[in-house]
Amino acid sequence: MDKKEINYGGYKMKTYKIAVIPGDGTGPEVIREGVKVLDAVSHRLGFKLDYTYYDFGGERYLRTGETLPDSAIEELKKFDAIYLGAIGHPQVKPGILEKGILLRIRFELDQYVNLRPVKLYPGVDCPLKDKKPEDIDFVVVRENTEGLYTGSGGFLKKGTPDEVAIQVSINTRKGVERCIRYAFEYCRKRNKNKKLTLCGKTNVLTFAFDLWERTFYEVAKEYPDITTDYAHVDAITMWFVKNPEWFDVIVTDNMFGDIITDLGAMIQGGMGIAAGGNINPEGVSMFEPIGGSAPKYTGKGVINPLAAICAAGMMLENLGEELAGKLIERAVMEVTSKHLKSLAAGKMGYSTAEVGDLVAKYVTELPLKLES
Ligand code: IPM
Ligand code: MN
Repeated sequence: MDKKEINYGGYKMKTYKIAVIPGDGTGPEVIREGVKVLDAVSHRLGFKLDYTYYDFGGERYLRTGETLPDSAIEELKKFDAIYLGAIGHPQVKPGILEKGILLRIRFELDQYVNLRPVKLYPGVDCPLKDKKPEDIDFVVVRENTEGLYTGSGGFLKKGTPDEVAIQVSINTRKGVERCIRYAFEYCRKRNKNKKLTLCGKTNVLTFAFDLWERTFYEVAKEYPDITTDYAHVDAITMWFVKNPEWFDVIVTDNMFGDIITDLGAMIQGGMGIAAGGNINPEGVSMFEPIGGSAPKYTGKGVINPLAAICAAGMMLENLGEELAGKLIERAVMEVTSKHLKSLAAGKMGYSTAEVGDLVAKYVTELPLKLES
């Protein structure tokens, strides 16, 4: 990643080039607050963010018939990171924008890990009885470029009574191994319980998860400091509700990761707070709130921007600005514990912009320290 240093009157300020895709629905509203907080933190800590905005999304598609222009992928490769709001438009058939924009970027930029922390912040209502912030703090490492998401398959005799629809799950040794390796490294660096759980379905998906399981235990030999564990995906949904405190880092395939992280989002307080990073450790990564474009709340100033703000924090951490990332997280925790009535859209007790203002204020005023 090349970090340009710009010379400001003798003082060299580190500058990161960020591609911003506000996208559809409430995407632009939450991204605006994220950028507000990014500006506050970069100003305080002395680095610069240089934003380039792209109008990819449903409106552009309806106007031009184009999801991503051909030049987009090569252009996006030149940035240090991508900051995405939301993709999905009520007037566009499901699948077109998701595949044409979101999945295309994930695949073509080879963002092979989808990193989704599930953390209950102080003051946040948890739907699980008796569970406290200390009980819910784990991270899902979702494989992000393979599995059922590759679009392999097809129809036979479509529209007839003999129709066949095939959707293939692709799992390559290379793809599985790099994701598992990332999870072990992440678990070691996180240094919490040092426990990595493989989430699969070895009892039914006897080809795909055989490969996953073999690879998992082979790689594990290189990480004697990490405790390994295995859970079937159906059981894991049960444990998320019953014993979320058992988990530290979880690694899983694309489809299971998609499903269990929505459940994860609910136990951390909802889509208003759930953030994720699409990571290519050797390339350009993309950070996004994991909730959708929420068309029914669009333009009302009631959507919760915290997920987008947390995604911005993850982005800075990933760029190597760890102190900045932690500062954003601590500011968010101040806001959840001292201000917001609820994390749900329209029930926060504050508007979208006011929540952004509050986080920006704490980012400016909190004492600086690394741990959260
Ligand atoms: C997510 C979303 C996407 C996915 C959709 C919008 C394609 O649900 O980021 O989890 O399935 O990956
Ligand atoms: Mn999803």
